[in-house]
Amino acid sequence: MTTDILHEQKILILDYGSQYTQNIARQVRECQVFCEIHPCTWSLKEILDFKPKGIILSGGPASVLATDAPLCDRELFKAGIPILGVCYGMQLITHTLGGTVNPSAHREFGRAELMIREYSHLFTGLNNKAQVWMSHGDKISKLPAGFTASAFTANSPIAAIENPIDKIYGLQFHPEVVHTTDGKKILQNFLFDICSCERNWKIGSLAEFTINDIKKKVGRAKVLCGLSGGVDSSVVAILVNKAIGDKLTCIFVDNGLLRLGERDKVEKTFRDNFHINLLVVDAAEEFLTRLKDVTDPEKKRKIIGNVFIEVFEREAKRLGDFKYLAQGTLYPDVIESVSFKGPSAVIKTHHNVGGLPEKMDLKLLEPLRELFKDEVRVMGRELGMPEEIIGRQPFPGPGLAIRILGEVTAERLTLLQAADKIILEEIKRAGLYNKIWQSFAVLLPIKTVGVMGDSRTYENVVAIRAVNSSDGMTADWVQLPYDLLGTLSNRIINEVQGVNRVVYDISSKPPSTIEWE
Ligand code: XMP
Repeated sequence: MTTDILHEQKILILDYGSQYTQNIARQVRECQVFCEIHPCTWSLKEILDFKPKGIILSGGPASVLATDAPLCDRELFKAGIPILGVCYGMQLITHTLGGTVNPSAHREFGRAELMIREYSHLFTGLNNKAQVWMSHGDKISKLPAGFTASAFTANSPIAAIENPIDKIYGLQFHPEVVHTTDGKKILQNFLFDICSCERNWKIGSLAEFTINDIKKKVGRAKVLCGLSGGVDSSVVAILVNKAIGDKLTCIFVDNGLLRLGERDKVEKTFRDNFHINLLVVDAAEEFLTRLKDVTDPEKKRKIIGNVFIEVFEREAKRLGDFKYLAQGTLYPDVIESVSFKGPSAVIKTHHNVGGLPEKMDLKLLEPLRELFKDEVRVMGRELGMPEEIIGRQPFPGPGLAIRILGEVTAERLTLLQAADKIILEEIKRAGLYNKIWQSFAVLLPIKTVGVMGDSRTYENVVAIRAVNSSDGMTADWVQLPYDLLGTLSNRIINEVQGVNRVVYDISSKPPSTIEWE
């Protein structure tokens, strides 16, 4: 999308590789200010040509003291553009402008109490104490000339720095994660008070704009879309359908790794309600055969990705000639793609359909590539899509395969589907489905002893996972009510044959991840 209205007042986020860089972008967009993330290797010219109203230097895993640390051009600080450095970004400002950064004996990780020492535009509207989220090793011991330290914590005597004359600010903590309770307010202060941005990024007219854009781009060509039933590909299908009608064909690959009843729901919604050309391919056996004896999570992902491409390609060829492949690529996927990859570590390779367009000689149509998930949801509602699709909890591409620890077999799938169905039913009955980011069952690769009636049992364990998150990057385990947990345990053990124990996962992300694999 190239509309100038949306991009007039943009913030540039330079990515130094933090796991949280996308959170910064999301938070900025939530303030109705458009922003883009670009790699920290951008030259001064590229940065200035971008014409940002303000720049945010993200956190990152490196130490500015390392010989190969990603740095920035000193001239950047003379360009008159307001700058906010977050964690590594603040250390970079200090290091570049002549202050001193030292390695610290103690890593500071987790929640900390911030004491605000001095009046600062950044902290306008905050009390003099705030809860913040720290994640750093190095510390600042000497400020650069012209800077003051505006806040401290028990472990960081310099937890925030500022040079209000040059409009350069630094935070040792992460304002972009939910654990920093006033983080949004701090970012708003930077955007509106310091950068003088206006709230002009609106999703409002975006759907109509996007439909027209697709029409213009595609003309009379035929478009193929891989429909997964999730929010992103569903919104793409509806957008493209509204733009070009029956020149769109959707393919839904049933990989057998879906939640119970998922396939029927997709058929009903898209074929019956939206009258979209839909081909449903039953490839469950093919997937299961290829997953035989595989236990490594990354191998599972790879196989599922490859089989998906094979099935999709085969079916598409049968259907005829297509020029475009419509994909629900979101902004976070764009930034994560190879060309943008900063120095951040790969935790899991998320399944996507990369490789498909080149292999099939298709052009990509990615109408959501500048949007975050929440923004896609807003757009979906504007398009009149049912809440059942829009409000759907995220479901991973490799499906239940990464919730069955160990080998994926037909029996273990049936067992997990049954347990998962009970969890969803009860979570919905308790009115919690839309209040929880994800809730699901995990089948563990162990058996435990139990007693049923008068007999000894030696059967499977199911774990319940329920997390809250705003973007999947960080997550807290949900304190489900005890009576609900009791009902879940009773129902799963009584109704799902082969399970004699249910446990509840009480880990947050980080340090755990949402999925177990
Ligand atoms: P993790 O487990 O990394 O999950 O904390 C974060 C979010 O991503 C989803 N997830 C995946 N989605 N392919 C996907 O499409 C994958 O391989 C994959 N692994 C995790 C997960 O459900 C959560 O929403």
